[in-house]
Amino acid sequence: MLSRTLQAADTISSIFAPVSTPAAAEAGLARVVLWLSAVVFVVVGGLIAYSVVRFRAPAGEPGSEPPQVYGSAQVEAAWTAVPLIIILVLMLATARVIHEVQAAPQPPNAVEVTVVGKQWWWEIRYPKLGVITANELHVPVSDSTDRRPTFLTLEATDVAHSFWVPRVAGKTDLIPNRTTHMWVEPYRAGTYLGACAEYCGTQHTLMLLRIVAEPPEQFARWVEQQRQAAAPAPADPGAAAGRQIFLGTICSSCHAVSGTLAISRTGPDLTHLMSRQTIGSGVAPNTRERLRAWVRNPHDLKRGVLMPPMQIDDKYEDQLVDYLLTLR
Ligand code: CUA
Repeated sequence: MLSRTLQAADTISSIFAPVSTPAAAEAGLARVVLWLSAVVFVVVGGLIAYSVVRFRAPAGEPGSEPPQVYGSAQVEAAWTAVPLIIILVLMLATARVIHEVQAAPQPPNAVEVTVVGKQWWWEIRYPKLGVITANELHVPVSDSTDRRPTFLTLEATDVAHSFWVPRVAGKTDLIPNRTTHMWVEPYRAGTYLGACAEYCGTQHTLMLLRIVAEPPEQFARWVEQQRQAAAPAPADPGAAAGRQIFLGTICSSCHAVSGTLAISRTGPDLTHLMSRQTIGSGVAPNTRERLRAWVRNPHDLKRGVLMPPMQIDDKYEDQLVDYLLTLR
């Protein structure tokens, strides 16, 4: 339910509405393949339909056989050559797009990102920019005069996952103990939805993903903001108490908040939690109410998630959430 309301608010994901260079090349190829297949379907289906009607047994002469034809060199040459040409065209068109996408050189000003697939969320690191976030990949919009694609290095820590944002690029698997690569180059600003496309356990369907493509200046501001450490201590006494709870209980054994002693990378980095649109890898909008429900029992929103319910009193829960709300 929750994820459905979120989806509805955003643009529909379709491979036929590409907004990025590799996705556009792939959508073009998909169209060629579909049109050629449609022509083959209509011709073959049409001939069959025509033969069935035209050469049906005449009434009154049941059991009579039509004339039998053997060995027509012309007909056999035609049904060998035509499919061969069709397959050849499809093969060349496909090889060209694969080359265009997989052999694209990385320009020096490309943004480099490492995406790590985990059950059931995405860790997103910008090693050269010193940024670590989760589930929402920010990239600059590229334009033809100043191309700025983003090159992704994909890894997995537990099982295989697959990175797929249909309007931005085709799928690429994330495989444990192996590194794979892909790139994206959105040329239109916007938020594009995606999902894990390789079955990876209970919450595979809620391992959602979004790419936020923004103009270069806005992307630079986002990076600058993400690089900041969290404020030392909130002024609000409730939030300050929440900070103590966060650092003194199990929260900090899985999550990191930069500038504090919480440095674990088991769960998502929460330093700038409130700058994200969603929580739980896209299961719910990032609001106070949802955040509180998540802290109380994440399994209500995402059954099977590896985070345990907090099981603390309402008052402490409120303080903890007040603290999380300060992580901007
Ligand atoms: Cu991760 Cu399916």
